Amino acid sequence: MPEGLDFVEVPMSDSIESRLKEDRRFPPSAEFCRHARIQSHAAYTSLHQLSLEDPETFWREHTTDLVFRTPWKKISEWNLPKAKFFVGATLNVSESCLDRHLQTGEATRAAIVWEGEPGDTRTLTYLELHREVVRLTAALADLGVKQGDRVAIYMGMVPETAVAMLACARLGATHSVIFGGFSSDALRERINDCGAKVLLTQDGAWRRGSVVPLKKMADEALAKTPSIEKVLVLRRIGHDRCPVTMKEGRDLWWEDALERKPSDASMKLAKHPEAFDAEHPLFILYTSGSTGKPKGVMHTTAGYLAGVHVSTKYVFDLRAGDVYWCTADVGWVTGHSYLVYGPLSCGATVMLYEGAPNFPDWSRFWQLVEKHGVTILYTAPTAIRAFIRAGDEWPAKHDLSSLRLLGSVGEPINPEAWTWYHRVIGGGRCPIVDTWWQTETGSIMLTTLPGACYSKPGSTGLPFFGVDIAVVKDRGEECKANEGGKLVIRQPWPSMARTLWNDDQRYLDTYWNVIPNVYFTGDGARRDEDGYFWVVGRIDDVLNVAGHRIGTAEIESALVSHPAVAEAAAVGRPDDLKGQALVVFVTLKQGHEAKDLKSKLVEHIDKEIGKFARPDAVRFTDSLPKTRSGKIMRRLLKEIAAGNEAKGDTSTLEDLSVLAKLRTDEE
Ligand code: WT7
Repeated sequence: MPEGLDFVEVPMSDSIESRLKEDRRFPPSAEFCRHARIQSHAAYTSLHQLSLEDPETFWREHTTDLVFRTPWKKISEWNLPKAKFFVGATLNVSESCLDRHLQTGEATRAAIVWEGEPGDTRTLTYLELHREVVRLTAALADLGVKQGDRVAIYMGMVPETAVAMLACARLGATHSVIFGGFSSDALRERINDCGAKVLLTQDGAWRRGSVVPLKKMADEALAKTPSIEKVLVLRRIGHDRCPVTMKEGRDLWWEDALERKPSDASMKLAKHPEAFDAEHPLFILYTSGSTGKPKGVMHTTAGYLAGVHVSTKYVFDLRAGDVYWCTADVGWVTGHSYLVYGPLSCGATVMLYEGAPNFPDWSRFWQLVEKHGVTILYTAPTAIRAFIRAGDEWPAKHDLSSLRLLGSVGEPINPEAWTWYHRVIGGGRCPIVDTWWQTETGSIMLTTLPGACYSKPGSTGLPFFGVDIAVVKDRGEECKANEGGKLVIRQPWPSMARTLWNDDQRYLDTYWNVIPNVYFTGDGARRDEDGYFWVVGRIDDVLNVAGHRIGTAEIESALVSHPAVAEAAAVGRPDDLKGQALVVFVTLKQGHEAKDLKSKLVEHIDKEIGKFARPDAVRFTDSLPKTRSGKIMRRLLKEIAAGNEAKGDTSTLEDLSVLAKLRTDEE
């Protein structure tokens, strides 16, 4: 939710230091423990031990709810960089998420409870969701989509987005959801990278009272996407407020495609889907790395499903009757794992909300919790900090007593935000699970289990089942308690990314060739004397702005593609609301002046990437500080951006006057 936060000015107060001093412990209440799936620290420890020492037994016992057509022969095969899990199994993910619930008497349970931003609502039972998925699967098959094809999904937070993902999974087509906040240029780049054959989109989406014209933006992208043959367009807004142009022969209305009678073969395939190999690619999700090109993180079938299923069940302690709300956008991994595949594979009732948390006002989330009786709420620290700013009077207007468990994800949570969330939203009675994971890990890696472990505000807790994670030094030696180092995972785990689409080498170089024999997360962390992990944040050239992962190189290459820009450097600045704010330093080509250029550069980023990647500050300078070998000295720029005196060793600076110039140019 970064766009709306731009207007809020917050003084710096809460910082990493306050997390260093934090040593309070919050145990779950006896009442919570009594009903919890895992009720004691000892039970957690022994299961965790089992999951590492005898993964075969652990995963056999914990995947009995999943539908395998052919049972697996071996839990894993690891031959760096090739990992296989549930070797020999065949399955169709959509059967675990849909069909199995129809047989267990849960057909009439609500699968998705949806509310649009304007307040319109829809509920889909498991039976109805199954029917919608079957219809779309048949329609896609009739459009020529086959197993192994790629399908791009550029949609907002509507039930059809989940339907689209599940229909792809049912057909064995690999989906790539592209967040609706991405610009048409970014959409085009991703479609072309994965070679998608079909695009699913909608006329527009509601966002803070206005319409985001998704189809119009898609049209711009589609001018240069040779692989796209067909486009399905869902009508969400309607012609009056969001007119669209349909291209003859290429574009089809969603409803028309569903109303056409499918061929017998397609209907048969949709009703009785094929089973795929455990390692069949389920989806590709683009994320930012340390170079300009986005990474197509590829996840496969059985391991991913097992990872999200087991983590949803235990981390959120799901039970019958829960109304589970994850506020993440379906365009990011949290939406994939904890809005769609995890909860639906558990038969949960998932709440889905289309719009912004502060529209029409800051009580919107709390009104939704009360109205739909939400029991589990999973959101991001940025949102929590924005709610703190807005004031306690907004949640106070609503009855939040249905809540029993709270979750946090996406960035480090500061203890002040944690305690506010606990006290004001959770009424002091709800455990908080602070979950650390990444697009690449597929599912939660670090957390406290809510009925088994106490939490410490600001700590992401302990390793989840199947996760062998550590803080190490550069050559891989484990750090001592409380010593800062790099966060790595020492053994492959079922839901890990298998590769980067079309780029095995980059996969190896980014994750496996940094520290010998382990997966490098890109994060810095420490582990305290109780074994609890404290994640500091990215230590590569990736920023986390309001929970959005942004590659500095992507911003820089977008900026230098503007005709006036000679060089650019993007760095993060600590920000009380967004965690990090984005500051860019720019040098101009001869003949260009800084005057009036700032807004043009911001617009340029909107166009190249999307509004969510807008810089918070643009600073013009004559040159950038560089080492003698020509590397930009980011450390110095970070300190200047943060308003600190540039400290440390500057003796390798090419030209010290550059630094002086930057300092006197403060805006
Ligand atoms: C990066 C991954 C995981 C889903 C959302 C983001 C940061 C994530 C936490 C947390 C501290 C966190 C890390 C990580 N991060 N969760 N609970 N505490 N930091 O997925 O876009 O792939 O970003 O988000 O820096 O590497 P993502």
